[in-house]
Amino acid sequence: ALLGAALIVPSLSASAAQTACDEGEQKIRFSHVVADKGHPKGEAAAEFAARVNATFEGRYCVEVYPSSTLFSDDDVLDALVAGDVEMAAPSLSKFETYTLAFRIFDLPFLFEDIAAVERFQTSPAGEAMKSSMRDRGILGLAYWHNGMKQMSANRPLKAPEDAAGLKFRIQSSDVLDAQFRALGAEPVKLAFKDVYDALGDGRVQGQENTWTNIYTKKFYTRQDGVTETNHGIIDYLVIVSRDWWEGLPAADRAGIGQILVEVSHEYNRFSFELNELAKMRILENGGAVRRLTKGNREKWVDVLTPVWRQFENEIGASLIEAALASNR
Ligand code: LMR
Repeated sequence: ALLGAALIVPSLSASAAQTACDEGEQKIRFSHVVADKGHPKGEAAAEFAARVNATFEGRYCVEVYPSSTLFSDDDVLDALVAGDVEMAAPSLSKFETYTLAFRIFDLPFLFEDIAAVERFQTSPAGEAMKSSMRDRGILGLAYWHNGMKQMSANRPLKAPEDAAGLKFRIQSSDVLDAQFRALGAEPVKLAFKDVYDALGDGRVQGQENTWTNIYTKKFYTRQDGVTETNHGIIDYLVIVSRDWWEGLPAADRAGIGQILVEVSHEYNRFSFELNELAKMRILENGGAVRRLTKGNREKWVDVLTPVWRQFENEIGASLIEAALASNR
């Protein structure tokens, strides 16, 4: 009964769903960079807002800003600390300047699927990582799922050598930088909002992302095809400004926190379906999706897993072991 019908038959069309706050309500601005519909983060943020706004009518009002309409992923962390926005949910690959703790999530071919990621996130090690930016003024409250990353370019990517010499857009993560260097490609760090244009004007020839991001932001229309590599993951941390959060009356903090726990639990179950649906939509709209042969998949694994060694010391071999153990 708690599940919204909108999610069961998700709509993949874009729309601006901004909440109008009433006079006297305390605004909670929630900034993100993805589509508001047909996307695990967009749908979960909208549902979180709807529930807080119904429960705290007249007192608090969550206003969701999707698609980088308030801050881009490069600016949102500083904005949160400065008090210019209260909540955000950046991908785990975007915290480099605040903490290196999340590097583990970028190691290629480490997690087999999002269920493994969830087992790791709910382990004591994963739970502890949510507080890794506390001293810098940021608290992590919940993990939200997106899904497995796929790779695309302006030419067919079958074997890893097909990526060599191409420029690939990456999120601001040194692990992802190393990943594309291992392929002999050139990584280019760009904000999410610039990817579509950069694929069109030749700043980059390829990118990696989840089906929902590739579909909702139309990246596939500017690529030869998308190869189902499942070589990594995109997941999120819902974050708040520590000072704002701890300044809330305890009962309100508990109430809003409980809504977030419930929405996270329910909506994380849908991320896989939404990504499968987006893949289907790409095909329906004339996009090409390529499967890797078993032999080629082994080649991608062989070329990319040595990247782990470059980051093993700072991440810690035992944490990598714990992550591997979550693939059961
Ligand atoms: C990206 O920059 O590719 C993603 O992190 C965007 C997102 O938030 O899913």
